[in-house]
This record gives sequence, C-alpha cells and structure tokens, in this order.
Amino acid sequence: MQTATFHDRIAAELSDIDAQGLTKPERVIQSRQGPVIEVGGRQVLNFCANNYLGLGGDDRVVAAANAATDRRGAGTASVRFICGTLDIHKELERAIADYLGFEDSILFAAAFDANGGLFEPLFGAEDAIVSDSLNHASIIDGVRLCKAKRYRFATSDMADLEAQLKAARADGARDIVIATDGAFSMDGYIAKLDEIRVLADRYGALIMVDDCHATGFLGPQGKGSYAHHGVKVDFVTGTFGKALGGAMGGFICATSEVVQLLKQRARPYLFSNALAPSICGASLEAIRIAQGPEGDTLRTQLTANAARFRSAMTEAGFDLLPGQHPIVPVMLGDARLAQTMAARMLELGVYVIGFSFPVVPRGAARIRTQMSAAHTFDHIDQAVAAFTTAGRELGVI
Ligand SMILES: Cc1ncc(COP(=O)(O)O)c(C=O)c1O
Repeated sequence: MQTATFHDRIAAELSDIDAQGLTKPERVIQSRQGPVIEVGGRQVLNFCANNYLGLGGDDRVVAAANAATDRRGAGTASVRFICGTLDIHKELERAIADYLGFEDSILFAAAFDANGGLFEPLFGAEDAIVSDSLNHASIIDGVRLCKAKRYRFATSDMADLEAQLKAARADGARDIVIATDGAFSMDGYIAKLDEIRVLADRYGALIMVDDCHATGFLGPQGKGSYAHHGVKVDFVTGTFGKALGGAMGGFICATSEVVQLLKQRARPYLFSNALAPSICGASLEAIRIAQGPEGDTLRTQLTANAARFRSAMTEAGFDLLPGQHPIVPVMLGDARLAQTMAARMLELGVYVIGFSFPVVPRGAARIRTQMSAAHTFDHIDQAVAAFTTAGRELGVI
C-alpha cells in the first residue's frame, strides 16, 4: 500500500507551522528546576516555570521522593484497583483532601487525566455543562468525552454565564455543572468565583474548578481560588506538577461518594498506572511545606515578586495583562516577534518562552512570565533589565 501521501502531508504541515513562526522548539535544561538553571552550559534565570513556591528543586522534596522510591520501589506495575494501591497513595489522597478542605480525593497520572475523567462518569445526556470559553484544553477534552449538553460562556462574563444557565434550565437539564479554571493559565486572570457562586445558587448548579494555577499559593494557606474568594465549590481538580513540588500527577477533590463513584468509573483511573511512589513522596512533602508557616513566607515572597515585576515592567513601557497573579503575560501580538524576543532574552541570560497559536489565540502572542517564591528581588530586577534591552532593540517599547 502507498503511504507516501501520508508522510508528504505530515512534512507539509510541519513546514506550514514553521512558516507561520509557530514552531515550539524544546530547549534542553541540564540542572534541577529552580530560579537559576543551566542551559547550553550557561547559568540563566528561569522565568517560565510553574514553580510558584520554589519547591521544584527543593532538597527536602527531592529527599522525600528518593526515600519513597527506596521504601516502595520505582512503581507499582499496576493500575490502582488491581495491585497498584500503596499505603503512600492513601496517605496522599488523605493529605490533599484535608489540605483543600474536602471529604476525599482521587489521584490521577496528571491533571489532564483528572479533567478527562471527571465529567463522563458523573453527568449524562440529561445534564448540562456550562463551560468558560477560556478553559484549559483538558477541561474541553473532558467535556467532549461526556454526553451532557454543552453550553459555553464568554470568559468571566457573568451576564453570559447567567444567560447560559437560564438556557440550560429552559432546556430541562437535570443537573447543571459550571466548569472553570480557578486561574486562567495563559492570562493569569482569577475566575470570579464569588459571582459564579451566586449564580450557581440561583440556578441550582454545581461548580467544578481546575486549580492547577492556584493550589498552594492563592487564598489563605494557599488553598486555592475558591478560598481566595471565600466560597465553597463542589469539585476541585489540580496538579502536583506545579506549586506542589513540580513532579507530576493530578487529583480530584470532592465528597466521598463522588470519589467512590469516580474510582469505579473514571477511565484514566481504571486504565492507567498508579502514581509512582517518588511522586507521592515529593508531593506529600510539598503539601506539608505549603500548608505550614513556611508556606505563608513563600506566598508573601511570591506576591512581592509579582508586584515588583509588574510595576517595573509597566514603568518600562511593556503591555502586560493586568492582575495580581504570578503569571504575568507580556503581550507582543506577533508570533515571530515573541520567538525572536525569547531568543534574545536567552542571550541576555533570561529563559522565557514565546507563546503563540494554538496555545493562545492567533495575533495574541506573548511571553508568559511566571514568578516564583525562589526568585530574589535581584533576579526580578535583572529580568526587567533584560526585557528592557530586548524590548528597545526590537522596537517593542
Ligand atoms: C489549567 C490547567 N489544567 C490542567 C493542566 C494539566 O496539568 P498536568 O500537567 O498535571 O496534566 C494544566 C497544565 O498545563 C493547566 O494549566
């Protein structure tokens, strides 16, 4: 059989991506994650990790990962319900549920899987999912896998959310769930969960929040976006791959009955390997640090770093998306410009990445910077100086 057409098509698509300046290269890092990393034999400042609390390369977190590997091995060679449930999985499920204030939790290999596994078992064709238009790809995919009727509201637009809730009720929905990122990963906007709570109560809807960019550092004790707004929600999905140690792995927090049903029905849970012991060990240590007094110190530093960077970059003349979140997008518009600027920043000793379509809308390319509690004010000032140099050279400011 002839397969040349297939290979020609793939090659053509790749050159098309490249011609549009949308190729996303991988840069190789030769050190642990941290505020300073080694790239190509050089030490550079890192301003694009989801390492919000700076625990990614923390010695205690790494030691906890190693200790868990020593005790329980590299992995289970099994899914959870066959012979893959270890004591350390139960410990982590209890710890994350207690930390975030829920009855119980269920672990997944990634938050991508948590979002992929949440909707289909809990909602059927009689139900409605009302989803923010800017939601993460994994929520969108999870919703697609579910038979519930779909409604979409313009991001953070409460009038539109109310219109969609009304439509879902008018269409006779049995149960309605509002699905939103707690903090939107490309923009750093925090969902208006206080207003969403009011609308959910008015229309009898449940609330699902993806707090990947909030758990560990937003709200009191870093409990997340809903705690930041002082409201309760029904389901929280999250990751251990960002603030909580940066390894990988995801979870859903909910009532114990919801968790019990997910353990019977969620496909990424039933058909995928259990989390490696090292990830459980690292995540448990990160939760211990995040919820204690050291967590408060780290969160204070993170907030101060974000405020310092935002104010200096605004003063330098850059176009930033507003907010207080440690995600600070530097808006550039053109995809090629974003790539050129990121390359120049690396020459100047600062590792950042240009984000372009399909990760952000066409024409809205940007450099998404992310602050960490491990950055010092000196790091922040050096990054602003490099941005200013590159920005002037490229006519951005
Ligand atoms: C909002 C959001 N949800 C889910 C995910 C997926 O997380 P994980 O890396 O644990 O699969 C991410 C990570 O990019 C994210 O930003």
